[in-house]
Amino acid sequence: MQIQEIIRSHVLVIGSGGAGIRAAIEASGYGTCILVSRTIAGKGGCTIMAEGGYNAVMNEADTIADHFADTMKGGAYLNDQDLVHTLTKEAPDRMQDLISWGAVFDVTDSCTICQRPFGGQCFPRTCYAGDRTGHEMMVTLMERLYNSKVRVFHEIAVFDLIVSEGRVTGALGLDQKGRLYCFLADATVLATGGGTRVFDISTNSMSGTGDGYAMGWRAGAELIDMEQVQFHPTGAVYPWDARGRLVTEAVRGEGGILKNSLGERFMSRYDPERMELSTRDVVARACATEIMEGRGTPHGGVWLDVTHLPARSIEERLPVMLEQFLKYGVDIRTEPMEVAPTAHHIMGGLRIDPYCQTTLPCLFACGEVAGGVHGANRLGGNALAETQVFGMRAGESAGKTVKREINVPDSQVATAVEMFGDFLAGNVLPDQVKREVQRAMWNGAGIFRNKAALEETKATLDALSRRKLKALDPSGFIDCCTTRNMIDTARFIVTAALLREESRGAHVRTDITQDWDNQTSPFGHTILTRIGATIERRRS
Ligand code: FUM
Repeated sequence: MQIQEIIRSHVLVIGSGGAGIRAAIEASGYGTCILVSRTIAGKGGCTIMAEGGYNAVMNEADTIADHFADTMKGGAYLNDQDLVHTLTKEAPDRMQDLISWGAVFDVTDSCTICQRPFGGQCFPRTCYAGDRTGHEMMVTLMERLYNSKVRVFHEIAVFDLIVSEGRVTGALGLDQKGRLYCFLADATVLATGGGTRVFDISTNSMSGTGDGYAMGWRAGAELIDMEQVQFHPTGAVYPWDARGRLVTEAVRGEGGILKNSLGERFMSRYDPERMELSTRDVVARACATEIMEGRGTPHGGVWLDVTHLPARSIEERLPVMLEQFLKYGVDIRTEPMEVAPTAHHIMGGLRIDPYCQTTLPCLFACGEVAGGVHGANRLGGNALAETQVFGMRAGESAGKTVKREINVPDSQVATAVEMFGDFLAGNVLPDQVKREVQRAMWNGAGIFRNKAALEETKATLDALSRRKLKALDPSGFIDCCTTRNMIDTARFIVTAALLREESRGAHVRTDITQDWDNQTSPFGHTILTRIGATIERRRS
């Protein structure tokens, strides 16, 4: 097999969500920059689907210190403090960038940015464009991207990073026909998003398969806190083919209330102070408990009700929700929605410093593929801010990387070609394996976890990793690579979940009783590398 094309650039950005595009825009100021996207650029990823908003201190009555404190507390104090400082300090400036590039956020009558309350905040600090905030951001970023000098490659799936003499020097990719591309770069930015497609029910687009975690780990980078998976409390449960789809937290921010089948506003039992605007980990567990204990709705969810709000405010503030549910046959102005938890975000990821440097030289990471910002639970609205703050920083750091001579990695290409040969000779179709991964993860590594179920899930995943994935022809190579990445990502989550012998944030171990709280926990980050897996112990 021949390499179809060898492409050299100063910076290579992998991924075309909000973080990747922001990184590419920034990096293009330092030299040649290439952005490679598995989908048509800007159409995949989670940013475009993000509904609720962008957290930033934009009001004199709010403070960076409060945004910092809310984020740390919400993250069960597992967050990297330097990253949280960076996020909270720079989120307003990156918001101003978007506005100056043409993004239209909702404004008040006095022309200040509208902000709504989201869970875990002491001040309503979530800026928004109705309930299509991510879409507004992406339209703006795409226009900026196409007016820059960034060269964009659409529909090429990067399947492995190139490592030479201990540093990352680019990546190998495949197009839809299974042709091989070799991207060589002085600096590489991973912005491949998350991986909650490894669960049966997820808000993620089809591209949320964990490719960046798997590629980074295989290349030798450190992953932290992969057990920390956020289940968004409110995903659609009905109709069947819409299950898992995001029902934005903005619904609760605008006054929506949760009820069980007995009509009880059940959050009063779980967090009487913050009620529906408690943090996501708490609300998701509350919904799951109500359903498990038999107080669920006909389709196995709970009720989310906005019928007490004026119809006009629903039409103006939640137009996407209104339209989405009308398609499901439910008019949310007069009827409640049925919702249930859905896998939404991985808080763990590649370990980075505030300059987005991973533990591997010349490899940077930003957005959901990076870990540490959100600790053990992310506050709604902090992800969109993260894409812009760390996207910009990753692009800048990559742009400043020293230029060097880089060679085509002949032996890595030969290994890839051998792997493709194995796919052609394989005997199990990727779809079958993916479904088994998703089912195993949903049943054994979901909201409530225990050692026995995690070990069983691990055994299932280990067995799946030994299956011989089958490509019917070269156009099936990408699917095989993606499935391999899903198995790896699922194994990271389960391995880390077994290591963390405590309940912390989104990670709950029902088999463990503990007498410490989040601030006095003896545990730090879980760390996974190719060499092994461990959990940091804090000194008392
Ligand atoms: O509920 C939402 O609108 C999601 C927001 C987020 O995950 O930040």
